[in-house]
Amino acid sequence: MKALVYNGPRDVSVVDVPDAKIERSTDVLVKITTTNICGSDLHMYEGRTDMQPGRILGHENLGLVIEVGEAVDRVKVGDRVCLPFNIACGFCKNCERGLTGFCLTVNPGNAGGAYGFAGMGPYSGGQAEYLRVPYGDFNCLRLPPDAEEKENDYVMLSDIFPTGYHATELAGVKAGDTVAIYGAGPVGLMAAYSASLKGASKIMVVDTHKDRLALAEKIGAIAVDNSDGSAVDQILELTGGQGADRGCECVGYQCCNQHNQEVPNLTMNSLVSSVAATGSIGVVGVFLPKDPGAKDDLAKQGQIAFDLGKFWMKGQRMATGQANVKAYNRKLRDLISEGKAAPSFIISHELPLSSAPSAYQHFDEREKGWTKVILKPGV
Ligand SMILES: NC(=O)c1ccc[n+]([C@@H]2O[C@H](COP(=O)([O-])OP(=O)(O)OC[C@H]3O[C@@H](n4cnc5c(N)ncnc54)[C@H](O)[C@@H]3O)[C@@H](O)[C@H]2O)c1
Ligand SMILES: [Zn+2]
Ligand SMILES: [Zn+2]
Repeated sequence: MKALVYNGPRDVSVVDVPDAKIERSTDVLVKITTTNICGSDLHMYEGRTDMQPGRILGHENLGLVIEVGEAVDRVKVGDRVCLPFNIACGFCKNCERGLTGFCLTVNPGNAGGAYGFAGMGPYSGGQAEYLRVPYGDFNCLRLPPDAEEKENDYVMLSDIFPTGYHATELAGVKAGDTVAIYGAGPVGLMAAYSASLKGASKIMVVDTHKDRLALAEKIGAIAVDNSDGSAVDQILELTGGQGADRGCECVGYQCCNQHNQEVPNLTMNSLVSSVAATGSIGVVGVFLPKDPGAKDDLAKQGQIAFDLGKFWMKGQRMATGQANVKAYNRKLRDLISEGKAAPSFIISHELPLSSAPSAYQHFDEREKGWTKVILKPGV
């Protein structure tokens, strides 16, 4: 089959690899019809992880079930399914509590597994023609009859729609809240969209990219252009000097200042300043335990200089981590099928798999207009 493999920093290619196949009786084999490029893929693409050369990328996958293992009961050949980026067993201590992003079975010695991801187990990604789905009955989200028609909406259930929603859950967003979101990438935009679905009264989205901020405005958020570094002041002004009730971090460890230089503690400390006393902060942007490629000595050790004193004095709360996609994907699917949500508005490019290497390059440069790329391996 054709698949996109990681060769080394900023070097990916579409090559022939052995077909994905059923390896265990609980597996499901999916013919991928849509697979997205994610901001998380860029950490690997840029060589900022220990991703091994030769591995297939892609953790935002949707497709058609073409074969099921002997022990699979619920999922049938012909089902159109969306796969959470987390691979989970369904029976460990964390999965039982709905914390499928921290499954203790699928990546022994660690909490959490994923397709095509550094440090998340040996699983191949879905930027390919076929994908092996472990524990298929648990991990496949079956889609309703409008699956093909709304495929570009449903594919967002694999990661960024639930992840944006998770940011608002971690931050405790409730109806009427004011919300400050750092990052207008796909995840930040989905957090803004989720805050809006939850009835937030004012949603402020910070970035320097005007095309991405325009999308935030399109869904009713206030664009906070940080091109001159004044995001915190703008948010304080928009909230009567108090700060927002809730804050969401949707950028991660490679966050930059207005001059595009990495300043790893910038968004976290900006959030402490942008959020009101007793407010809460949800962090879904990725921070790594080690980042040898960082310029900053603390960041190399996975540390940042955090405004803990200010955070403490303000009595703020914070929660972090991978999104437990399965905790939300069923309900968000129903919002899509009932016409209450349409997350495909963020898609800027729909391309064949063969165009993936150049798409990675454009998306990595955060080139104007390259918000979200979806790939169609069947085309
Ligand atoms: N927790 C999870 O489960 C999960 C899932 C998916 C993605 N992620 C992570 O979420 C983060 C965002 O993903 P994405 O796909 O939107 O990525 P992206 O790289 O496309 O978007 C990030 C955006 O942040 C902006 N930005 C950079 N510095 C900033 C700053 N100081 N203030 C405000 N904005 C700033 C960039 O201009 C960019 O538009 C990444 O770290 C990704 O790995 C986490
Ligand atoms: Zn992703
Ligand atoms: Zn588990």
